[in-house]
Amino acid sequence: MIDEVKKHLKAVEAFSSKEAEAIESFRVSYAGKKGILNELFAAFRTVPNEEKKAYGQELNALKSAVHEKVQSLQGQLYSKSKQQKIQDPTRTPFPIQTGNRHPLSVVKNRIIDIFSQIGFTISEGPEIEDDWHNFTALNLPAHHPARDMQDTFFIQTNPDILLRTHTSSVQVRHMEKNQPPIRTISPGRVFRNEAISARSHCIFHQIEGLYIAKEVSFADLKQTLQYFTTALFGNSKIRLRPSYFPFTEPSAEVDIYWGLETETDFRITKGTGWLEIMGCGMVDPNVLENCGIDPERYSGYAFGMGIERIAMLLYQISDIRLFFENDIRFLNQFKATL
Ligand code: PHE
Repeated sequence: MIDEVKKHLKAVEAFSSKEAEAIESFRVSYAGKKGILNELFAAFRTVPNEEKKAYGQELNALKSAVHEKVQSLQGQLYSKSKQQKIQDPTRTPFPIQTGNRHPLSVVKNRIIDIFSQIGFTISEGPEIEDDWHNFTALNLPAHHPARDMQDTFFIQTNPDILLRTHTSSVQVRHMEKNQPPIRTISPGRVFRNEAISARSHCIFHQIEGLYIAKEVSFADLKQTLQYFTTALFGNSKIRLRPSYFPFTEPSAEVDIYWGLETETDFRITKGTGWLEIMGCGMVDPNVLENCGIDPERYSGYAFGMGIERIAMLLYQISDIRLFFENDIRFLNQFKATL
């Protein structure tokens, strides 16, 4: 009897097949209801008592050999069919998870796209700036009270080196190197020493625009802004409110009409229906002169906006900190080709 079990064990160990059907009939012949294993287990009663222990051990070894063999052959079969699938050029592709653009990049690219359609080029500059480009050239001489409007991070207590507080510094650099006509936008990261809250952050992004040519007027500025807000927000009504910036005269704050339909509209517009989206104005002649452009011959306008603010409006995001936390659940919600 034991010999018979041993013979089967050898046969099981020797068995091999790459055919699903052969493996299945092997499995049935051993482990099926009327298979060899059940037969041998049934014969256990007839085995003499002194052989029972050895017989039982052999039989259990045979049973696990059968299971292992079937499992390993089926496993090979499965991985082989998987490989074949991968090599199949007609298969539909796996849904590969690609990355998304950051919402700030999406909005920045949209704004760049809108302005590039009317001839604006992109200019960039350093994030670590000197006092001249960030302040003095922009009509903010030392001790000018308006410097307090922008809480500045200075580098290593050197009051001349700082993290730029706006990308207007890039426009100064651009004007120093180019003569009009100038039509450029400057996107970039800016830094202000402000407490972090849902509404403000010490790091944020701006896009500032600059247009200098002969006889540029405030009407040109308004027309450009109207074109921009319509392209970005859809049909939009804007208004310009008098304001103050040291580098523009006159200066204005741009509001768009957001509407007052929902409770959220009411909250974010503080009940007015209007939302402030950027600052603008006619470039102060002093600034032109500081940058080597003759204010008698040329005039220009400038405007600047925070990208976070625009993105928060477009996507109804209520907390600016979300942009900097890199939470994949937040970032995953933005898909764009731009
Ligand atoms: N530089 C201003 C700011 O950072 C924005 C601005 C740019 C205003 C150009 C007027 C003209 O707040």
